[in-house]
Amino acid sequence: MSRLPVSALTIRNFFFLSLVQVYQEVVSALARQNIMVILDNQLSKPGWCCSRYDGDGFFGDKYFDIEEWFSGLKIMATMFNSTPNVVGMSLRNELRGPNQNLTLWYRYMQEGAELLHSINPNLLVILSGLDYDKDLSFLLLKQPTLTFTNKLVYELHWYGFSDGGDWENGNPNNVCASVEKSTLLRGGFLLGQGRPLFLSEFGFDQSGTHVTDNRYLTCFLSVAAEWDLDWALWALQGSYYLRQGEVAYDESYGLLTWDWCKARNPSFVKRISALQSPLQGPVYRTRSHTI
Ligand SMILES: *[C@@H]1O[C@H](CO)[C@@H](O)[C@H](O)[C@H]1NC(C)=O
Repeated sequence: MSRLPVSALTIRNFFFLSLVQVYQEVVSALARQNIMVILDNQLSKPGWCCSRYDGDGFFGDKYFDIEEWFSGLKIMATMFNSTPNVVGMSLRNELRGPNQNLTLWYRYMQEGAELLHSINPNLLVILSGLDYDKDLSFLLLKQPTLTFTNKLVYELHWYGFSDGGDWENGNPNNVCASVEKSTLLRGGFLLGQGRPLFLSEFGFDQSGTHVTDNRYLTCFLSVAAEWDLDWALWALQGSYYLRQGEVAYDESYGLLTWDWCKARNPSFVKRISALQSPLQGPVYRTRSHTI
């Protein structure tokens, strides 16, 4: 398919691109900025993600057709097979709901991982846990069985509203200690086993007025520094064309303001910049920092 340079994209041209072409164009615009991309399979039924009873949370749910999921992975892996900045694919975002089942997790994650590997052996293959990707604890007992090694990555999500800590009433130091411990059990232990773990979603209300989110954030940043986590922030976008039926929806978790023109919370940008380079390992030893 033809690729238009971003500078040539006007509103008029835009209408001649399919959704998939827009996606490809975004990936190549990121490539021009030397930004690496991980593809993430979010939902089968288009919409805002996620809820426990949306029928889209686990293999075989009403809208989560397993064959369709396999063919989606195949199409995307093939489409970006020779696109060097696409470095990884996550098999499925935030598995959840009443039908989640470990037997099926191992079965389909293994099959999906092998499928991606057979199409593009260069991809990092990223596996998400159960219960909204908050739970990888079961890996303590059993790892998936795969024909390849050295490029399997696990991902975990951690938000203040779902970490089980009493950020509102508790002493923040004590709450942080207990939440850190539970995050360790939920998946953090993988780092201690020398396995790659990617904290692929964290986020908070960037207005700075949400007291419990502020407490959670301070805790998150200190744990991320101590564990030298690889992380991704939800979210960059300041707004949406359309979300949950609302036009021009404001993303309060967005790094950018509603008009995408500046940082919503400049002091957060400073704080997070301290975590953008590794804090452990050989690279770190050759750097000098001002803390
Ligand atoms: C999980 O799925 C397997 C395979 O379909 C089934 O045999 C098993 O009973 C399920 N387990 C639970 C707890 O639902």
